[in-house]
Amino acid sequence: MGISNTHLFLSLVQIFILCLLCFMAKVEASNQKLSGFYVFGDSTVDPGNNNYIKTPFRSNFPPYGRDFSNQVPTGRFTNGRLATDYIASYVGLKKDVLPPYLDPNLRIEELMTGVSFASAGSGFDPLTPSMTNVIPIEKQLEYLRECRKRLEDALGKRRIENHVKNAVFFLSAGTNDFVLNYFAIPARRKSYSILAYQQFLIQHVREFIQDLLAEGARKIAISGVPPMGCLPFMITLNSPNAFFQRDCINKYSSIARDYNLLLQHELHAMQLQLNMSTPDAKIYYVDIYKPIADMIQMRKRFGFDEVDSGCCGSGYIEASILCNKLSNVCVDPSKYVFWDSIHPTEKTYHNIFLASLSTIDFIVNN
Ligand SMILES: *[C@@H]1O[C@H](CO)[C@@H](O)[C@H](O)[C@H]1NC(C)=O
Repeated sequence: MGISNTHLFLSLVQIFILCLLCFMAKVEASNQKLSGFYVFGDSTVDPGNNNYIKTPFRSNFPPYGRDFSNQVPTGRFTNGRLATDYIASYVGLKKDVLPPYLDPNLRIEELMTGVSFASAGSGFDPLTPSMTNVIPIEKQLEYLRECRKRLEDALGKRRIENHVKNAVFFLSAGTNDFVLNYFAIPARRKSYSILAYQQFLIQHVREFIQDLLAEGARKIAISGVPPMGCLPFMITLNSPNAFFQRDCINKYSSIARDYNLLLQHELHAMQLQLNMSTPDAKIYYVDIYKPIADMIQMRKRFGFDEVDSGCCGSGYIEASILCNKLSNVCVDPSKYVFWDSIHPTEKTYHNIFLASLSTIDFIVNN
């Protein structure tokens, strides 16, 4: 090698090292922005916590999970990944999926980048999870504290305090309080008007947010509820002719819209107060109503054929243990908005993820 060639070679090595350093700094910086992702709520965000408790609300058997590459049912109530799985990998915290906290094999690194504490069948009203013997939201918060303790023991209090500040906490629940509880059994209807019940739920959201703030959380995202009158299960139970008339039941979707509005008002009022007391705390509302309503109303644009029945079984009533290895399954779930009579398909979850990208980017960059 001549002098100039050696020079050139050394320069190239320098450039390479510089690029590597830049790249590492960039990775470090983006990690700095979002340190972890912690999720609470119901089946819309439960990756399999119910596998570890005694409840009939589970889905760790075929045909659930059949569109995972290894076709393993994980306990997710869909044929593949949830929106929160897509989010966790989009923000770079996970390679593939967000694991359930109750999985006994999770290592510290997994707890550090994020887990879901959610439990299918759960809700804000304490009566909802007690009916189905699943994990109440308050208990999910206790699990967060336990998780935090494990992290502190491994990495130190100081470091975890910072970690919590830069993590996102996301809550998705509410549908079961209406669909399995208020609409389905008389207990709450006897003592609450629908407006009073909506306010009762929102009071619980408020308390949940306050508990998270007390833990040191500073980025909190809360989702509303979907068009509940469009769930195949709700159509089947409430249509005058469940076989031939399968339009969305507006009465229930309108209750969902009202709840979402009340929720947004409450979150806005809380943010206003926080701006004075804790200005670095941010509360975000995540809309899932419009993305799902759009997929149903403009099915062709999204490539869907079926919007009023699920892919599993008859599509009208089956969910959880009623959707099992004996059920007929549609040929192509990506043509369906719903996987079973209550839960979206992986494709729908992916579309919900895409629809919330601007909100996610906003959370990451603020
Ligand atoms: C809170 O403060 C931020 C600026 O830090 C502002 O953009 C936002 O509008 C405020 N929110 C409310 C509800 O006043």
